[in-house]
Amino acid sequence: MEIRKKFAIVALTDVKTYLSEEGGQIAVFDATNTTRERRELILNFAKDNAYKVFFVESVCDDPDVIAENIMDVKVSSPDYPERDRESVMEDFLKRIECYKVTYQPLDPDEHDKNLSFIQVINVGRSFLVNRVQDYIQSKIVYYLMNIHVHSHSIYLCRHGESHHNVEGRIGGDSELSERGKEFAVALKRFVKEHKLLDLKVWTSQLRRTIQTAEELGIPYEQWKILNEIDAGVCEEMTYKMIEEKYPEEYAMRDQDKYHYRYPGGESYQDLVQRLEPVIMELERQGNVLVICHQAVMRCLLAYFLDKGADDLPFLKCPLHTVLKLTPVAYGCKVDVFDLGVEAINTHRDRPLQNKGQTDAILPAFLRRNSFTPLSSQDQIKRPRLYSVGNHSHTRMSQAPTLPKPLVISYYWNITEQCYQVLSRLFFSLF
Ligand code: F6P
Repeated sequence: MEIRKKFAIVALTDVKTYLSEEGGQIAVFDATNTTRERRELILNFAKDNAYKVFFVESVCDDPDVIAENIMDVKVSSPDYPERDRESVMEDFLKRIECYKVTYQPLDPDEHDKNLSFIQVINVGRSFLVNRVQDYIQSKIVYYLMNIHVHSHSIYLCRHGESHHNVEGRIGGDSELSERGKEFAVALKRFVKEHKLLDLKVWTSQLRRTIQTAEELGIPYEQWKILNEIDAGVCEEMTYKMIEEKYPEEYAMRDQDKYHYRYPGGESYQDLVQRLEPVIMELERQGNVLVICHQAVMRCLLAYFLDKGADDLPFLKCPLHTVLKLTPVAYGCKVDVFDLGVEAINTHRDRPLQNKGQTDAILPAFLRRNSFTPLSSQDQIKRPRLYSVGNHSHTRMSQAPTLPKPLVISYYWNITEQCYQVLSRLFFSLF
């Protein structure tokens, strides 16, 4: 018990480093916080540091869900290197019995009535929400109420090659090229071969995605928010034309592709926010095929693969290729299907930075950046390259205007997928 308490304190110190020294905004404290004593420790720690606490308690007494979770999650967990399914099941069930002895659930009626928390009961069959204090907490509640943990796959692809693709023009609303039409036929075959009978199909409201879906011969839904990134004054130009006509804009985009907003158009950051309802709906649905666009597909992919702002705009999403994403415990499985129809390559690699050029354009960049007032200056997710308890090598100064950070305390529970989805939620919040 003593060692475990020590670990908890070390992890809380880590939380403090992250929130108070490294510019972190939300920390998920994922531990066995199943006793009042432990929760008291967290609350005192938060009080001392002026952090807000939101508890997420996942309660499950459905034996089928418990058994499924042990098989899906625990067998592959580092706690059980032997990976023997039967002995893991037996051991983990014993572990649950041990926890039951000391477990003190949150008590919304009396003892914990002043705390902020959500109780997720039997993986989302019902919820109990208490004293939500702010926007972020309400978003967490909204998110947890929308996700599910049953297995499903999301199929992502772009429309078939368009006339604008062939000409190297971005944006616009052109129709499919001959090869683009061939892809639509190949996609129909793919759906049939993979027996995707109960498949939902979503497109944008642009002609190239609608034409691709039409060929499938099954109902589909059009979403305006799935439309391609709006390139504003640069719509329907080639990258070369943009470089010649708007050299400063071109250089600024290369400097920070995620935050750069086209004049009269959008940035990738805008796009991430625009796509939130689609992401939420993808979490709720069964199997879905999303026929979309290069920038949109990158955002959706980054969400499921937990990619940060730095990598997102350079993810490779070639035409005529279907990605099958299957969320699993601690990640997302990706299968790539090249449907074998040739297409133009529309990918531009990450440019090499030119220091002199960067300095010259910086004032212009500041003139029209796309940070929202509430968001952090540090949008890029930095991996934590050091182990618990050790300080990082590169410290960041804390931005003075940051809102008070908040700690999520997450209980030992049988649905560790929730942790995964929480980290995905933070992608869409920031
Ligand atoms: O070139 C196809 C396209 O979908 C354009 O419509 C869009 O502007 C572009 O890709 C997005 O890619 P990038 O952000 O790399 O310019």
